[in-house]
Amino acid sequence: MNISRRASEISPFYVMELLEKARLMEAEGHSIIHMEVGEPGFETPGPIKQEALKALGDGKTFYTHSLGISELREAVSRNYRDRYGLEVSPERVIITNGSSGAFILLFAALLEQGRTLAIADPGYPCYRNIALLTDCAVRLLPVSAGTNYEVLPEQIDGPLRPDVLVVANPSNPTGTIYRPGSLNALYEKLSSRGSTLIVDEIYSGLVYDAPFSSSVSISGDVIVVNGFSKAFAMTGWRLGWMVVPPRLVRPIQKLAQNLFIAPPSISQYAALAAFDDAEGLARMCSLYRERRDFLLPRLRGLGFDVPVKPDGAFYIYAGIERFAMDSMLFVERALAEAKVAITPGYDFGRFGAASHVRFSYADRLENLVEGCDRLERWL
Ligand SMILES: Cc1ncc(COP(=O)(O)O)c(C=O)c1O
Repeated sequence: MNISRRASEISPFYVMELLEKARLMEAEGHSIIHMEVGEPGFETPGPIKQEALKALGDGKTFYTHSLGISELREAVSRNYRDRYGLEVSPERVIITNGSSGAFILLFAALLEQGRTLAIADPGYPCYRNIALLTDCAVRLLPVSAGTNYEVLPEQIDGPLRPDVLVVANPSNPTGTIYRPGSLNALYEKLSSRGSTLIVDEIYSGLVYDAPFSSSVSISGDVIVVNGFSKAFAMTGWRLGWMVVPPRLVRPIQKLAQNLFIAPPSISQYAALAAFDDAEGLARMCSLYRERRDFLLPRLRGLGFDVPVKPDGAFYIYAGIERFAMDSMLFVERALAEAKVAITPGYDFGRFGAASHVRFSYADRLENLVEGCDRLERWL
């Protein structure tokens, strides 16, 4: 059997490898504190589970429309109006198999050999690894604390202009939010050259202090990806959505029919209840904020360098220069010796990868306290 070059060369998702290692240690009887994985520490809210049971009882177990059930496309559209005062036609909303499914469809529609995707470094690693399936070139754009970890218009200028730029807002791994106007400037620069801006807003439900507005407001040509995994604690349901310009709907539909047939039916019916529980979501959000407000000063006190306050998602991207250890060695030793799992900077690119780690505060506060106590003793 000959494994393809792309399958041989794709980087592992280190955080998943680390999680698998941590789970093995747990099976051997060790107690591990999980500050590596970006998975909500909450169960899916009750009303969503109830809708799923109802859908099962009603026999909604068949393939749905490839672009998603119309009720959910309408619910997503209504949510843009209720939450942000933005009008988004349901025809532009496409339901996908997780936001990961949206990226597979978008990259298949927009990228190919000879085209270039640009992404932030540090940034979410799967963009790059999904794009490699299309044989496009991938450019990593270094972003740093001095500019709020934002991609700047001058980075996409010149002969190396990308065909597609993806940014996450709020960002993974830095938890930072683009300042008002920054994404408009990026869009202006890209669109003047016929390039496309995709904004990944999967963490838009988890925003604490900074002002946030959906990039749907910038232009009908900006593609916005989002999903139910994080804000609605639905990681295992594999459900996401995207808002696309009308001319992209048909190409995406053909791709979706072939690649996925349809998004998962029970998950779609369950998600109809997702936007109704605003209070439940606000409660979850305030618990995450409480965790961030504990973890940030505690990590700084331990000697981690966090120059920009994270305002969204559930991550803190922390410099470890002070400990004079490569980030891969740091996380391996933290797991083996302190029994705390964290993610090495290498998962998010190359720039500053050796000197940074990412902490997730998706887990319960008491576990974060215990994790920090363990790290303090170990350090
Ligand atoms: C920035 C970002 N985008 C997308 C995803 C994928 O989410 P989904 O579960 O919707 O596929 C993740 C998951 O961690 C993420 O951090």
